[in-house]
Amino acid sequence: MRQLFQNLIGNALKFHRPDVPPLIQVTAHIVTKNVKPKEYVIEITDNGVGFDEKYLDRIFAVFQRLHGRDQYEGTGIGLAVCRKIVERHNGTITATSTPGKGSKFIVTFPIKAIKQEKPYDN
Ligand SMILES: Nc1ncnc2c1ncn2[C@@H]1O[C@H](COP(=O)(O)OP(=O)(O)OP(=O)(O)O)[C@@H](O)[C@H]1O
Ligand SMILES: [Mg+2]
Repeated sequence: MRQLFQNLIGNALKFHRPDVPPLIQVTAHIVTKNVKPKEYVIEITDNGVGFDEKYLDRIFAVFQRLHGRDQYEGTGIGLAVCRKIVERHNGTITATSTPGKGSKFIVTFPIKAIKQEKPYDN
């Protein structure tokens, strides 16, 4: 989980617009309507450079980057690792973006029913 948030928040900071201070919002809520099982929805929203949504699939693949290495450092591994982490927890990850305005990364995790602990019988 730490690696997931580190890369998403790290990207939101890294891909800021040169003349605009970065503003990053992290929210979480539970969705119960029309989904089974219920899920957590976590959203990381930034006001950075954004990207063209037609490349959405590409950014979650290893070594795929939409911005030049000379402008923003990185290897293009972060989001591929994020996707692996999320999938391991039966969740999903996607994003929406408007170039020049910002991006929103959306992570969901199913909420499993919490098993009732067996009471101790001494
Ligand atoms: N918040 C964002 N705003 C704009 N573009 C983004 C954002 N997050 C990711 N991207 C685009 O998706 C690409 C892939 O992201 P990813 O985190 O996998 O790689 P990276 O940050 O470039 O390198 P690494 O995470 O390995 O240091 C980025 O290079 C960038 O082009
Ligand atoms: Mg990254």
